[in-house]
Amino acid sequence: MPGALAVALPALLALAWLRSGPGRLWGSEAPAGLQRELARRQRDLGRLAAVIQARAPRPRPRPAGRAWGCADVARAAAGASVVGAGITKVVVRAALPPAGREVALKSVHDAGRDVRRCVQQHGHPSGCRRLAAYKLLKEATLLQGLEHPGIIQLHGQCYDSSADPEMKITSILELGTPLEMIELLQTPWEKRFKICLDLVELLHYLANSPLGSIALLDFQPRQFVIVDGALKVTDLDDVSTEELSCQTDEDCLLEFPTRNFSHKCSTRGTCEGINERRNLFNAYRYFFTYLLPHTAPSVLQPLLKDILNATGDLRYGTNETLRSFQKVLHLYKSGLYLPKKPSHLKEYVALKGFGSGTAEDYKCWPSYSHSGCVLSVHNAKEAADICSSHSQCQHFIITPQKTWTGRPLALFQSSSAVLIPGSDTVVYMKRSAVSKGKPLTRSPNESRDAGEKTLTGANSSPPRR
Ligand SMILES: Nc1ncnc2c1ncn2[C@@H]1O[C@H](COP(=O)(O)OP(=O)(O)OP(=O)(O)O)[C@@H](O)[C@H]1O
Ligand SMILES: *[C@@H]1O[C@H](CO)[C@@H](O)[C@H](O)[C@H]1NC(C)=O
Ligand SMILES: *[C@@H]1O[C@H](CO)[C@@H](O)[C@H](O)[C@H]1NC(C)=O
Ligand SMILES: *[C@@H]1O[C@H](CO)[C@@H](O)[C@H](O)[C@H]1NC(C)=O
Ligand SMILES: *[C@@H]1O[C@H](CO)[C@@H](O)[C@H](O)[C@H]1NC(C)=O
Repeated sequence: MPGALAVALPALLALAWLRSGPGRLWGSEAPAGLQRELARRQRDLGRLAAVIQARAPRPRPRPAGRAWGCADVARAAAGASVVGAGITKVVVRAALPPAGREVALKSVHDAGRDVRRCVQQHGHPSGCRRLAAYKLLKEATLLQGLEHPGIIQLHGQCYDSSADPEMKITSILELGTPLEMIELLQTPWEKRFKICLDLVELLHYLANSPLGSIALLDFQPRQFVIVDGALKVTDLDDVSTEELSCQTDEDCLLEFPTRNFSHKCSTRGTCEGINERRNLFNAYRYFFTYLLPHTAPSVLQPLLKDILNATGDLRYGTNETLRSFQKVLHLYKSGLYLPKKPSHLKEYVALKGFGSGTAEDYKCWPSYSHSGCVLSVHNAKEAADICSSHSQCQHFIITPQKTWTGRPLALFQSSSAVLIPGSDTVVYMKRSAVSKGKPLTRSPNESRDAGEKTLTGANSSPPRR
């Protein structure tokens, strides 16, 4: 393929660059300040590539199927739509042949603030784009050396050598959707808890990674995307794989706008553990405070408060934090969080063989559906308590759909909702509604009371008349 290198592993690409050197290619034209910057980025990248070669020599397995070529990537990128742009990089979604698999293509954002500022300062567009490309290459090199469900997967990288000296490269990544914090605030607690748990698992991995303890220096929600409901970090150009070196404890001050923390200088002369603590406090201030406590089951509130307090004061490391999250998850999944009080379930009659025939009904918050009231429940008992607390609720249906924790979704409906026979779900109807003699169903062919035969009592007692 002339003028292009087929999809390559970034560490190899990085090493190839180190051999060429920034000055050799166009030493005479780039201003000295920019040359120095380029040389510094190149050394930084060289160190990282060497660490990865030494500590994580096993290259990631390639995805199944044929490898993509740069021509595929260029063709797909031409018709692609932008999904996100930052200061340095721009991301488009594209379908790659032959199967049309959707991926994210990340490249240098020529119109972004990073390149624009550099051009203003140095007046050298291709050198400035090359400078930004080092960030992209650093990110891809790191992605190659790390492997975790909380880190976006890198499929490969493509280099168009016809565009030298600007070093035009494209990273081919797993496609996600940008994290929308406002939207997340309106989703059920269970989903928000998952985002926080995913983050804690990621931070635990980063603290113990094969490349050492890694700090995300620019830690913000916009560095993350969601893939199939899971949180993944995608912006890895601004990270540190080394901990600060120090002579005294004063050198290890951990600074945040609202608060500073002191940290010990180890006998080895590094602020050991500072990267982990830095990540954790950022997780606390950007994620946990917003997503964790709000509308959690009341029995779990004290545990969540403890997690917030312990991470907010940095009393916990990632190990203890992860353990606490797992404990909350266990309590939630096992239903142990449910208050121990008499259930409302005996006020309901179970009708087998009915389903909902209504598309729109009353809404509740935070519903899993936009057209009605759908909530995750532990069992019919919890659903009955919820139905009894909603003035509109007349019956509920335990659907076969499950949330990520394995809990079923229940649909809560009012008296205006129509039930139709011929479904294999169970409808729990308020006894008071049954005894009013209202026809149970209006099936599309108007066979009144069809299915009356299948009526069975929840506690094997017939409805009172
Ligand atoms: N794999 C992906 N799938 C979908 N969208 C993505 C993906 N990776 C990144 N994005 C979106 O593109 C935006 C820019 O990517 P990225 O954060 O890597 O660029 P950046 O220039 O370093 O950003 P920043 O200015 O935040 O540092 C992200 O904020 C995110 O919304
Ligand atoms: C944190 O420390 C810095 C440097 O010592 C200081 O300037 C700043 O005021 C401190 N911030 C807080 C919130 O204490
Ligand atoms: C944690 O709890 C203690 C004691 O109640 C309190 O003084 C402190 O401010 C709390 N810290 C945070 C981050 O909430
Ligand atoms: C945290 O747990 C990991 C194993 O999962 C272990 O290797 C590491 O030493 C622990 N860190 C601390 C600070 O206890
Ligand atoms: C209602 O009509 C559908 C299709 O027209 C039919 O399959 C079904 O058996 C009918 N139900 C009853 C109870 O008659």
